[in-house]
Amino acid sequence: MPATALRCRVCETQYPLDPIGVCARCFGPLDPVYDRDEQRRTVSRESIEAGPLSIWRYADLLPVAAPVEQRLAPGFTPLVQAPRLAEALGLGELWLKLDTANPTHSFKDRVVAVAAAKAVELGRTTLSCSSTGNLANAVAARAAAEGLEAAVLVPSSLEPEKLIATSIYGARIIAVEGSYDDCSRLSVELSFELDWAFVNVGLRSYYAEGSKTLAFEIAEQLGWSLPDAVIAPIGSGSMFTKVHQGFGELLTLGLVDGPSPRLIGGQGEGCSPVALGFANDAKVKPVRANTLAKSIAIGSPADGDLAVATARESGGSIYAVPEDQIVDNIALLAETTGVFGETAPAVTVGALRAAVERGELGESDRVVLLVTGDGLKTPGLVADRYDPIRVQPDVDQILETLGVQV
Ligand SMILES: Cc1ncc(COP(=O)(O)O)c(C=O)c1O
Ligand SMILES: [Zn+2]
Repeated sequence: MPATALRCRVCETQYPLDPIGVCARCFGPLDPVYDRDEQRRTVSRESIEAGPLSIWRYADLLPVAAPVEQRLAPGFTPLVQAPRLAEALGLGELWLKLDTANPTHSFKDRVVAVAAAKAVELGRTTLSCSSTGNLANAVAARAAAEGLEAAVLVPSSLEPEKLIATSIYGARIIAVEGSYDDCSRLSVELSFELDWAFVNVGLRSYYAEGSKTLAFEIAEQLGWSLPDAVIAPIGSGSMFTKVHQGFGELLTLGLVDGPSPRLIGGQGEGCSPVALGFANDAKVKPVRANTLAKSIAIGSPADGDLAVATARESGGSIYAVPEDQIVDNIALLAETTGVFGETAPAVTVGALRAAVERGELGESDRVVLLVTGDGLKTPGLVADRYDPIRVQPDVDQILETLGVQV
């Protein structure tokens, strides 16, 4: 395993590979440090291609060793072309990264698998998190697969289907009468009192690295080449920034050539602190979340400033997507691609539409849109689209209803 230490992103103090979420000196976030020389010696396209069809084929680029027994491994999800949506939007080449194909139908299985590997290494017996829904699903399922306990903090106002999908794995659900940001604060406080392995507190440095596998897979699935742009949703901003860093690492290691893709992000307008920070060229200020896109409703995003910097550095941008577009975008994606995404990908489709309208993307670009979560977990939002033709079991009546003369 080529990770050698954790380093503070702000003051650069180094720490051993322990479960410490933030720098003891300045409270800055910690990132793993890798031995790039060792990676250059040991990692090649061929060595990766010989690995398992999951995130663990990139274990040499992650801060944990691959589990000896790989249970319910996430990753290596399909990358498929979406020519009808491309045509509808005026794009030349559009691909969808279908992270709905992960074990609990969202990209969170990636980050949890990495954090859980560290938790198991540390001998922890309870996996935990604060969550906007998908992370709770992923933590609960991972704990079930590994034989650990699970306890998750979620806002009680989450879509009921998401909470049911979490309970079925046997997780303890703490439904907080408050926002995700309340859950996040509570999980930090509880992490001082309990020996639970909070994947997005004490293990956050490991957890976040799991999102890099999205970038690794996209490059490999495009025949070891890079797209021109990647469109992603932004909650805490972690995934958005790590996808960019993932492309950067492939370039550093000589596994791909090229300009690094532009990162274009989306937030629901009712919770768009990062889009605001980008638009105003200012520090990200916390907001009170009020968006249909509950899975990315984070008013105080931990990696907000880094997400703004990532958009700028990569030549991309961040859009606030109007709330009244979200349900329409779920339908647009479904009707033109056959993919039923949840609200986060609907916001992502909105960011893509905005980027095309502004002339930021067009016919000559090869674009990848991340479908990070599944619409089947939030069917209530689109329930009014169900408007069937009601008939008796009678063929003549059906033909008559359809206006067919016989
Ligand atoms: C489906 C989905 N997409 C995107 C995100 C945003 O991820 P991040 O918090 O890393 O920005 C989340 C969770 O927050 C999510 O559940
Ligand atoms: Zn520091």
